[in-house]
Amino acid sequence: MTEAIYPDLRGKVVAVTGGASGIGAAIVAAFSHQGASVVFFDRDEAASQTLLAELGENVAFQHLDLVDLEQLNHGFNAAVEIFGPFDVLVNNAAHDDRHRIEDVTPGYWRERMAINLDHHFFAAQAVIPAMRRKQKGSIINMSSIAWRVGLPNAPAYVTAKAAIEGLTHSLARELGPSGIRVNCVLPGFVRTKRQIENWLTPEFETTVFASQCLKRFIEPENVAAPVLMLASDCASAITNQTLVVDAGWS
Ligand SMILES: NC(=O)c1ccc[n+]([C@@H]2O[C@H](COP(=O)([O-])OP(=O)(O)OC[C@H]3O[C@@H](n4cnc5c(N)ncnc54)[C@H](O)[C@@H]3O)[C@@H](O)[C@H]2O)c1
Repeated sequence: MTEAIYPDLRGKVVAVTGGASGIGAAIVAAFSHQGASVVFFDRDEAASQTLLAELGENVAFQHLDLVDLEQLNHGFNAAVEIFGPFDVLVNNAAHDDRHRIEDVTPGYWRERMAINLDHHFFAAQAVIPAMRRKQKGSIINMSSIAWRVGLPNAPAYVTAKAAIEGLTHSLARELGPSGIRVNCVLPGFVRTKRQIENWLTPEFETTVFASQCLKRFIEPENVAAPVLMLASDCASAITNQTLVVDAGWS
């Protein structure tokens, strides 16, 4: 795939949560190719080390579990000490486990919110003060078309993904006067390793192609590309928006 070059992203400091694999890894690689300094936060040590070995010295990794908000705070502060304040935050980490309505306990529901929603707010809270001081910043939240099309067997995940779009609107309105843009990306079905291993049956492939306007798979790089655009000054007048990357499904 041909990658556009955004000269203003060179030297920018970028945080990506869940950057070790899937869409997050493609986002980390894409910012790295732009010459940005990228720090990704993930709990998967092995996948993170593999990605680090593939990319250049402008990429760093902080091992942390984003569910632990104290760890999150320490990790972001430690990264700022090394690289300086963040210009861009991509809130990407999630875990799309399936669950039947009758099996969901209060504890499981809370756990799903912690893994799919809470850290989006707290990562933003960690980067906002420095962005305010610079009067500039871009926050990109990863939602999903799952909540627009009503993905079955995942009500907690789908609820969290809907909330992320609401959070985007709230932060965009509040942070706009400080020059901070906040946008949301809604991918459709993206052919990541985890999706292939868990859900990409021949039957589901038929559903995907029947639902999409475009009869092809979306690859992680196809989501990373518009994330770069939203992070760059090319999108300097774009905030409070949702960009759907679903090959025309929804
Ligand atoms: N793949 C798709 O089809 C698809 C579709 C719509 C939306 N999305 C969204 O895109 C984003 C990326 O999805 P993906 O498919 O690449 O996911 P993935 O499962 O392939 O990768 C998620 C990454 O986040 C990390 N992670 C998860 N929980 C974590 C935690 N508590 N602490 C630290 N790291 C953690 C994982 O280790 C992994 O590296 C998610 O927000 C997801 O909801 C994906």
